[in-house]
Amino acid sequence: MRIGVLTGGGDCPGLNAVIRAIVRKGVDTHGHEFVGFKYGWAGVLNQDTTPLTRDTTRGILHRGGTILGSSRTNVYKVEDGLNKVKAAMEAQGLDALIPIGGEDTLGVAGKLHEDGIPVVGVPKTIDNDLNATDFTFGFQTAVQIATDAIDRLHTTAESHNRVLVCEVMGRHAGWLAVASGIAGGADVVLIPEFPLTVERCADLIRQRHTRDKDFSIVVVSEGWPLTREEGAEALSTTTGERDAFGHVRLGGVGQQLADLLEQITGFETRVTTLGHLQRGGTPTAYDRILATRYGLLAADLALEKRFGLMTALRGTEVIPAPLDDAVKELRTVPREYYALAEAFFG
Ligand code: F6P
Repeated sequence: MRIGVLTGGGDCPGLNAVIRAIVRKGVDTHGHEFVGFKYGWAGVLNQDTTPLTRDTTRGILHRGGTILGSSRTNVYKVEDGLNKVKAAMEAQGLDALIPIGGEDTLGVAGKLHEDGIPVVGVPKTIDNDLNATDFTFGFQTAVQIATDAIDRLHTTAESHNRVLVCEVMGRHAGWLAVASGIAGGADVVLIPEFPLTVERCADLIRQRHTRDKDFSIVVVSEGWPLTREEGAEALSTTTGERDAFGHVRLGGVGQQLADLLEQITGFETRVTTLGHLQRGGTPTAYDRILATRYGLLAADLALEKRFGLMTALRGTEVIPAPLDDAVKELRTVPREYYALAEAFFG
C-alpha cells in the first residue's frame, strides 16, 4: 500500500514519535510506502509532499514539533476541497491517509471518510479534550512543563510574599490546569467546567494567608470565563479573529484575574502565562511510548483496511475506536477529577 501521512492543528510533543512508528511498522512489517504531506491538510490540497522513509524518519523520536509541519486548514472551507483531496490521492497513488490531529483535523478526517476517502486517525493534543480516548499524547508533556513552572513559581512567590497566577492553555477544557494544579500543589485552580468566582478565589487566598502562609499559587485555564459574583464575562481573547474552524485565540484572563485579586485582597500579585512553552520541546517518556503505540496500531489498521477508525487509549490498552466518537463532543473535566484539586484549595 501507499499511504499519506499528515499532522494538523496545534503541534504537540510526540508527533514525530508517531510518524516514526507508522513508517517503521509500515515499511518493515507490511511493505507499505509513505508520502508525507506538509503543513496538515494544506499540504494535501496543494500536493506539497515530502518523502517518508526509514531514513527520513531516523533520529526523530525525541524531537518536539513535527517534521511535517502543521496548519489549521479546513478542507471543507476551501473551494472544491474534497475534489482536491481526491485529486491528491490519485496523483500520489495513495490507498489511504493517516491524519494525526485533534478535534479539528480528525473532524475533517471523519467527514472525508463519510465522503469515501480511506482514513485512519491518530489523536493528539495537549488539551486532552478528545472523546473516545483516555489520553491524547502531548498532554502529559504539557502537564510536566506546567508543573515544573509551578514549582519554580512557588519558590519566587514564597521569597516575595506574593500571589502568583499561572495561566495555562487547554482551550475549553480544564485538563491541563487541573492536572498541573494537582501535581504542582496549586492553592486555587480555575477552569471552564466549574467556574469559581474571583471573589471566592480571593476568599480562599485570604483564608490561606490567615494560616501562616504569605504566598499563594493560582492556576487559571485560558478558557475560564472571568466570573464575578454578578456573572461571567466573555472569554478573554488576544484577537477577535477566528481560525478556519471557528476558534478564537484565547489568552489574557490571567492578567485580568491578577489585577482583580490584588485589588480585592491587597496582596501583591503577579502573572505568568505559559503559552506555547507548553507545546514545545521533547516529549516525556510516557508520551513517546503512547505515540509509538498509536503509530504502530495505525499502520496495522491501514493494512487491514479498517478505515474510519482512530487509535485510542482505554485503561492500559491501545485499541481502535470510531473517528466519529472522538469529535462528536468535547471531553471535559468531570466533577470528581476537579475535586482532587479542590481538596487542597485555600
Ligand atoms: O489546541 C491546542 C492549543 O494549544 C490550545 O490549548 C490553545 O488554545 C491553542 O492551541 C493555541 O493555538 P495557536 O497555536 O493557534 O496559538
